[in-house]
Amino acid sequence: MGLHRWWQVTLLTLSLFLSCLVGGSQSYYDHESLDDFLCKQANKETERPRTGVVYNVSLPSNFTGMEVSVVRLHRFSLWSRGMNYSFFSLPPRILPQPNEKRITILFENLGNWSSHYFNVPNYTIVAPVFGVMAYNSSEKVLVDEKINFTTHGDPIRIRFPHVGQHGKNDTPICAEFSAGELVKFKNMTEPYVCEVYSQGHYTLVVPSFPSPKEPNSRSHSKRFTKWWVLGFVIGFVGLVILVLILLALVKEAKKRRIRKMERNSEGGELFDTFWIGETKLPSASMLRTQPTLEN
Ligand SMILES: *[C@@H]1O[C@H](CO)[C@@H](O)[C@H](O)[C@H]1NC(C)=O
Ligand SMILES: *[C@@H]1O[C@H](CO)[C@@H](O)[C@H](O)[C@H]1NC(C)=O
Ligand SMILES: *[C@@H]1O[C@H](CO)[C@@H](O)[C@H](O)[C@H]1NC(C)=O
Ligand SMILES: *[C@@H]1O[C@H](CO)[C@@H](O)[C@H](O)[C@H]1NC(C)=O
Ligand SMILES: *[C@@H]1O[C@H](CO)[C@@H](O)[C@H](O)[C@H]1NC(C)=O
Ligand SMILES: *[C@@H]1O[C@H](CO)[C@@H](O)[C@H](O)[C@H]1NC(C)=O
Ligand SMILES: *[C@@H]1O[C@H](CO)[C@@H](O)[C@H](O)[C@H]1NC(C)=O
Ligand SMILES: *[C@@H]1O[C@H](CO)[C@@H](O)[C@H](O)[C@H]1NC(C)=O
Repeated sequence: MGLHRWWQVTLLTLSLFLSCLVGGSQSYYDHESLDDFLCKQANKETERPRTGVVYNVSLPSNFTGMEVSVVRLHRFSLWSRGMNYSFFSLPPRILPQPNEKRITILFENLGNWSSHYFNVPNYTIVAPVFGVMAYNSSEKVLVDEKINFTTHGDPIRIRFPHVGQHGKNDTPICAEFSAGELVKFKNMTEPYVCEVYSQGHYTLVVPSFPSPKEPNSRSHSKRFTKWWVLGFVIGFVGLVILVLILLALVKEAKKRRIRKMERNSEGGELFDTFWIGETKLPSASMLRTQPTLEN
């Protein structure tokens, strides 16, 4: 029983430690289900929308920090005029595909949620992730199914705000998330402007690792410290587990000894020879019994 209890404690400690490790590493939310949620929210929150008017979609409080807007356009209007909104500039000569009569465009600014939903291996995201998405639409349903659009004239321009910290030599580059998990890179066409040709999510990134020209000792020592701390934690937990196991073994051995002692005291004969060396109890009883023998 005792051993069992100690194992439970040990396992609990171990699992707590492991869950800390897992919790400490970054996890990424699914942006496709976010898109679906935002579409539903846009349909729910935008009553009787007028074509050509941009509406802000109100979001639940646990999405604070994101900004989402929606606009329904006539195919003809999009083709002939394009549209400017916030950070996005859609030029004329864009066609929906399939060629729907009305399309709805969803503009997303993921703000401080960007790095929760998008991750670029070996790069650091230095601007919010912006999304521009097209859906087919009707008078009844504002946002229905995701469609493509194709640009036949100028590209779509996305102007990023000047945010994020990066070294002077690390010019940000455009990152495009449109083909599944694959990230495409492109140079900016002018400072903080990316030109894109389809719907998707876009942001600016800089390489995470210092360029060889300008070794950055600070991030080096940071990484070193991280490993050192990790090593220390693992060592410490290992030690705790070892101590717990030792304690459990000692406790079990003691129990067994007491049980044996009890059995021996019932049997009588072996008691003296077995215990005399180890505890004071038998010798004390010997001392007490001696006078009665003399009498
Ligand atoms: C929509 O949100 C943006 C950014 O928060 C704000 O500047 C704009 O005034 C809002 N528009 C409407 C119609 O509420
Ligand atoms: C916000 O809460 C809703 C449930 O109320 C949940 O479905 C959604 O995932 C939450 N959003 C975030 C970003 O945690
Ligand atoms: C983003 O900022 C808002 C406040 O501006 C905050 O309520 C929200 O929790 C932040 N979200 C994240 C993921 O940090
Ligand atoms: C969008 O802005 C550009 C200049 O940045 C301008 O040439 C164009 O006419 C604008 N389009 C609309 C539909 O307002
Ligand atoms: C990130 O960089 C490391 C080391 O330079 C490299 O081994 C790895 O393949 C890179 N990952 C990606 C996704 O490019
Ligand atoms: C959007 O497209 C799908 C598939 O092509 C179609 O079933 C649906 O009715 C369309 N929705 C609208 C609002 O036109
Ligand atoms: C949009 O384009 C992608 C790839 O270019 C394609 O896989 C997808 O089927 C297209 N969607 C529609 C609705 O045409
Ligand atoms: C981006 O610009 C750099 C120079 O700043 C150049 O070396 C590189 O080839 C460019 N990449 C592309 C895809 O144009």
